[in-house]
Amino acid sequence: MKPGFRRIHSSRNGSMMTQHIRTQVGILGAGPAGLLLAHLLHKAGIDSVVIDTKSREEIEGTVKAGIVESPAAEVLSQSGVSDRIYSEGMKHDGIEFHFDGTAHRFDFQKHTGKSAYLYPQHEVLKDLIAARIRDGVTPLFSHTATAILDAESSQPRIVGTNAVGEGFEIAADIVVGADGSSSVARSFVNKDRNSSYFREYPFAWYGVLVKAPPSFDELIYSRSEDGFVLISTRDRDVQRMYFQCDPELDAASVSDEEIWRKLQAGIAGVELTRGPIFRKDVLRFRSFVAKELRNGHVFLMGDAAHTVPPTGAKGMNLAFSDVLWLNEALREYFRSGSESLMDAYPENAMKRIWKAQHFSYWMTTMLHVAPDASEFDKKRQLGELRSVTESAAANAYLSEGYVGWDYEADDWR
Ligand code: PHB
Repeated sequence: MKPGFRRIHSSRNGSMMTQHIRTQVGILGAGPAGLLLAHLLHKAGIDSVVIDTKSREEIEGTVKAGIVESPAAEVLSQSGVSDRIYSEGMKHDGIEFHFDGTAHRFDFQKHTGKSAYLYPQHEVLKDLIAARIRDGVTPLFSHTATAILDAESSQPRIVGTNAVGEGFEIAADIVVGADGSSSVARSFVNKDRNSSYFREYPFAWYGVLVKAPPSFDELIYSRSEDGFVLISTRDRDVQRMYFQCDPELDAASVSDEEIWRKLQAGIAGVELTRGPIFRKDVLRFRSFVAKELRNGHVFLMGDAAHTVPPTGAKGMNLAFSDVLWLNEALREYFRSGSESLMDAYPENAMKRIWKAQHFSYWMTTMLHVAPDASEFDKKRQLGELRSVTESAAANAYLSEGYVGWDYEADDWR
């Protein structure tokens, strides 16, 4: 099939207009995973159509979390998406853990020679959308997929409706579900709800966005008897901070005064810079992995395939690993017709998925005090924090995981 191959026509059935699109790869979800896959496929001359339920304004305007691992920054920059991550992102050479009256810094540069970048996901999305527009293939925003037809065949179709209620149908050789944690595609790959590995945690994060410059120049992960506090930022004028809370807590029920009291109590030794709080939300913690990542020519990646709790900020970085494996598999398929890397995709992707699941679970359980924690549990946890912070090997282990393990799939340049 030729680069840029795409056909579009419309049909009418009674009063219902339907747009028919033919492409090589139909991608549900204009998130980081779907857009990066479209970008890498385009570089190999493979046409794709990305659709998303949300409008472009909504996607670019929703403030999102922001740690980009070193290998993920390299992919975005070297594949030609954007260098803004290096010029405008904040380079972080370490993080701090606070517990039991002590502060410990994990020195990324010393242990790995690498850094993590604080560059919010909505900025990554702006870069990726700009790249699609630059390449002349603007995603179809405000397009809601309702089903994938003929999922098991080699000609699956995505059907749905657009913002004005007209129908669309995208016929493709491959369909990719990159449509996030409430994925539509997932049920066409995993037939029943039990086809997943799942864990829920007995705590959540109460998150705020604050209009004020950063309180500290690196991230602070703090464990105290009252629970966990994280001090992060979004940019030079906005801070993101969290404290551990009950998953059932109503975000609107907590006063600003109570928020500052909780945050400051959990972070002894650093005076927090205050400012107006302009968003309050409660983030539930879940670990989730779909059992199947492929059904015929339909694939899952990113949050559609797995969720990690936010401690350690692995979500988007892990999604990129799926993207690189699938990109390699689809390049092989369209080059030679061979499905060998498509067959290998689930097994290849799952290796890093479970490493990241472990890392996120480990960071979470090491730093949060569960509501039913016994005195034994709390003392054991402090023992764990001491052994991790005092050991050079453990410092290196945590730093390697945090700045990001190298991606294995490398056919993306
Ligand atoms: C965030 O800035 O929202 C953030 C940072 C680090 C994490 C989780 C969330 O581990």
